[in-house]
Amino acid sequence: MKLGAQVVIQVYPDKEAMSRAAAELFVEQAGQALRLRGRFCVALSGGNTPRRMYELLAQPPCRDRVAWAQVQVFWGDERCVPADDPRSNARLARQVWLDQVPIPPQQIHPVSGNLPPEAAARAYEALLKSFFAGQPPSFDLIFLGLGEDGHTASLFPDHEVLNEQVRWAAEVYLAETDLPRVTLTVSLINQAAVVALLVTGAAKARVLKEVLQGPREPRRLPAQLVHPQSGALFWLVDQEAASQLQKNPDIKFISDDA
Ligand code: 6PG
Repeated sequence: MKLGAQVVIQVYPDKEAMSRAAAELFVEQAGQALRLRGRFCVALSGGNTPRRMYELLAQPPCRDRVAWAQVQVFWGDERCVPADDPRSNARLARQVWLDQVPIPPQQIHPVSGNLPPEAAARAYEALLKSFFAGQPPSFDLIFLGLGEDGHTASLFPDHEVLNEQVRWAAEVYLAETDLPRVTLTVSLINQAAVVALLVTGAAKARVLKEVLQGPREPRRLPAQLVHPQSGALFWLVDQEAASQLQKNPDIKFISDDA
């Protein structure tokens, strides 16, 4: 996988250890961003993998190590459903984490679930343009997941959204489901200072092997498109997901007591 970024692949014994590492990455990146820029701008993924990380960030010690008043939360993608819909990515993060820490409500920026998909995408892009106010739209940290089909965020295989070079957010309709989505585009994701993909479970072993150690086929494996232009790319995975990876010096195995 050819990348322009520093790539860190870390394998943890299990999901709990990976989640602790991901929460620690959040805390560390937040501290660094606040020191450098006085704010920390993070985009969250959807799916279930980040749930345990969210729970850890909602409780001591992580909770007490973040200056929540300077944290700005966005999403890397969202399903076009009402905020209280069980399929909403923002609903999960709010329930298990954001509602339990003192982030000013106006600093939590969900994708609108009440607008048609294209309007929601246009509104989210307008929000981002207003937030970054003419500066490069560089998130301090973006969390992403990996689908078994190689998608990340809502960047799905062979979808036209993979070609989007101008827009920062776009609507995504999928033939196989009637659940439209809004996603940050590849070009926006790759302007981040740090991108961290969280991958766990044996079901992801094949696709993780293909993405990290297989031929470069980004239309079939959109996660291969993720490489921050000048930032760092972290793959935080558990041993089950890493079980098909060929061991090499690029892959660091973290023991339990690390
Ligand atoms: C979504 C996500 C999606 C997710 C992957 C992994 O809205 O579905 O953003 O990209 O991160 O599908 O999902 P799991 O963590 O549930 O395996």
